[in-house]
Formats: sequence, structure tokens, C-alpha cells
Amino acid sequence: MMRAAVIDTCGLPPLVSERPEPATGPGEVRVHVTAASITPLDLLCASGTSYFGAPATPYVPGVQGVGVLDDGTPVWFATSAGMRPGDGSMAEWAVAAHGDIVPLPEGVDHRLVAALGLSAVAALMALTWRGDLRAGEQVLVLGGGGVVGQAAIQLARLHGASRVVAECRSDAAQRRAERAGASAVVRLDEPCFDERLAEQGPIDLVVDPVFGAPAVSAMHVLRPGGRLVNLGSSAGESAPFDSATLRGKHLSLLGYTNTELTKEQRADAVAVIAEHVRGGRLTLDYETVAFADIADAWTRQATGKADRRLVVVL
Ligand SMILES: NC(=O)c1ccc[n+]([C@@H]2O[C@H](COP(=O)([O-])OP(=O)(O)OC[C@H]3O[C@@H](n4cnc5c(N)ncnc54)[C@H](OP(=O)(O)O)[C@@H]3O)[C@@H](O)[C@H]2O)c1
Repeated sequence: MMRAAVIDTCGLPPLVSERPEPATGPGEVRVHVTAASITPLDLLCASGTSYFGAPATPYVPGVQGVGVLDDGTPVWFATSAGMRPGDGSMAEWAVAAHGDIVPLPEGVDHRLVAALGLSAVAALMALTWRGDLRAGEQVLVLGGGGVVGQAAIQLARLHGASRVVAECRSDAAQRRAERAGASAVVRLDEPCFDERLAEQGPIDLVVDPVFGAPAVSAMHVLRPGGRLVNLGSSAGESAPFDSATLRGKHLSLLGYTNTELTKEQRADAVAVIAEHVRGGRLTLDYETVAFADIADAWTRQATGKADRRLVVVL
């Protein structure tokens, strides 16, 4: 038997209970889990309101995690928990398909890799693949205090940006964006936001996990031919762009989702992130919580009472 976090009812947090250790099927391996983050996707799926539909219960949540294989190899892994039938990473043992496992460098910080996970993959690929970041460009990162935002600030610098401006809306988020290396921070919660943002332009590429009003403001500071890559909607599901700005400056408005990545692209991105972590070039403000406290941690993350990403350690 093993300890597992189990969602019995959609909309309620998982509770720790005893379950049989999972058996592997063809093409699968088992992972002794060391760390798993509670992400917006986990919360959305477990709420029962995601576009994947309400998951069958009971199930173990966790769309990603870090752990070790039976032979001691450290790995990052992905699961479809909450999106398709099956269990996820928030248990002592998890099962993942071979194609969903990425070996990690020896000695890498499991908790930090778990905290960054697919949010950092999204930041990296939105910058370098969808956004086609070129050396010397100026980047604006919206939501610069979030996990995607902090990763995007650091990764933009590491992948050639000459200057990275961040948008935030609180003192805590500003501190996180500054620690991540933002050259300047513009506060959404202060007067004259648009004017302050305009002073930072022109911008070549915007990484946008928030959409809504901040994305509209960001479009106005793009240089002619600039790109905005949207990957989330924390600030709003819609954004009223005007045609004159879009066509007049020949701008590109692009969408990004991790689900469009091939498994090879995702594995390559995780490997890049893990190397940056091992080299001390990529970090994140996160909090670890004991597995026994997962119900409380889940509720804090879901209700916004946690002001940073929570990582469950096993
Ligand atoms: N497309 C993909 O493949 C992909 C992958 C990963 C994540 N995402 C999405 O990206 C978004 C951010 O993810 P994350 O991991 O960075 O989450 P997070 O750490 O919880 O960060 C949320 C961010 O949204 C900002 N925010 C929240 N409400 C806002 C509002 N009303 N107005 C302006 N800003 C607001 C927060 O700003 P403060 O810090 O200033 O409070 C923070 O920067 C989520 O929607 C997530 O689903 C998409």
C-alpha cells in the first residue's frame, strides 16, 4: 500500500488515504515521486468545470511531477490526471508512459524543477518557438510575478533579450519580478499604467499569461511588426483590440498552448529548463508543503491565499 492524495468529489480538496501501489502496463514505468506542484490546470480539472469535462472520481490529481525510477534515474514526468481517466503525480508512487518521462541531470533540485514544470515549458516555448525571440530584442512579460512570468523574465534574458520589462499588480509580485531580473516593472494597480508602459517601449515581443486589459495596453507599446503571444487569461477571457492598432503596425497576435507540443518538443524544453536550474540560472519563488498537509495547501492555492506556487514534497 502507499499514501495517495485522492479527490473523491469534484470541487473539494484531495485527502490523503491508503491505496494499493499502482501496477504498470505495457510502455509504462513507475516513478517514486519526490515532488509535485499544485498548478492552475490541476485545480481547474479537479473543479469539474474544465473543457475536459468532470473527471471520474475517485482519482489522484497531479498532471506533472518529479521523482526517481526504480534504477535511481531522476525524472520529470507528465500524466493526464483530471483530463483523462487515470491517476496523477500526488502519491508516493505514480505510473507514466515512457514518452511522458524526461531524465533529469543528477543532483538537480527536484522541488525547483517541480515548481517550474510546465509553466516554465510554456514560458520557454512561447518566447523561443511561438514568439521567435531574436537576440537583442526587448521583451515585455505580463503577470511578471506569476510562475510563467518569473520563468519568462529569466528565460528571455538567457535566450538573448537585451531588456525585459515586467507588468505586476502588487508589491510581492514586483519583488518576485525584480528578483527574476526584470529591467523595469510597471504596476497595473497604480495610476497612469498606460503612460508608464509607453515609456518602456517600443517592445518587440510580449509574453502574455493574463490577457484582458493588460494585453490591450501591451499591444499599444509593440513596435511595428511586433508579436504578442497569449498563453493564459488570468486577467480576462476577452480583450478588445482595435483594428487600427493591429493592422496599422502590422502586429502578430499569437496563441500558445503546451498541448500543441510534440512529446519530443516538451522533453527538449524540460531538459533545457533542468539544465538552467542545475546551472543556477533559473529559479522561482515557491513554497514547499508536507504531503500530509495537501488538503490545506490545495485550498490555499485554489482560493488565492497562497501567494506563490505550492510544491508538495513526499
Ligand atoms: N498555455 C499554456 O500552455 C499554459 C501553461 C502554463 C500556464 N498557463 C496559464 O498561464 C496563466 C498563468 O499561469 P501561472 O502558472 O503563472 O499562474 P500563477 O503563478 O498563479 O500566476 C498568475 C498570474 O496572473 C496574474 N493575475 C491574476 N489575476 C489577475 C488579474 N485579475 N489581473 C492581472 N493579472 C492577474 C498574477 O499577477 P500577480 O502575481 O501580480 O498577482 C500572476 O502573475 C494561467 O492562466 C495558466 O493557466 C498556460
